[in-house]
Amino acid sequence: NDKCSLIGRWQNDLGSEMNITAVNNVGKIFGTYLTKVTSSDKPISESPLRGSQQMGDQEHPTFGFTVTWSFSDSTTVFVGQCFVDDKGKETLQTMWLLRKKADSSQDNWKATLVGTNLFTRV
Ligand code: BTN
Repeated sequence: NDKCSLIGRWQNDLGSEMNITAVNNVGKIFGTYLTKVTSSDKPISESPLRGSQQMGDQEHPTFGFTVTWSFSDSTTVFVGQCFVDDKGKETLQTMWLLRKKADSSQDNWKATLVGTNLFTRV
């Protein structure tokens, strides 16, 4: 079986698109993220993503990355794993935490969202 690679263009179940442009020799991930949805009232624009993946000889590596949204005050972290099935189809199974900017420490309790996203290659 082939090793699952993160590099390339992906779309998730919300219609968001991400382009992972590079994974370097120590596993650092570089790319861009264009979300289809937002909890902010600003117009959506492309945002940078940075992270890292396990670089051993594993077929289905785990990874994590952060999207620091360029158009809102929020930050999202994703963790996940790259899978490749016996037909060679790759998917990224992820979970994310989205931190919104709370107006005060008293509002901290309502500042974090959690969810899952499934990515397939575009
Ligand atoms: C914001 O609303 O402040 C920035 C955009 C957040 C988009 C979230 S991140 C988790 C989920 N997965 C996506 O592809 N988009 C939403």
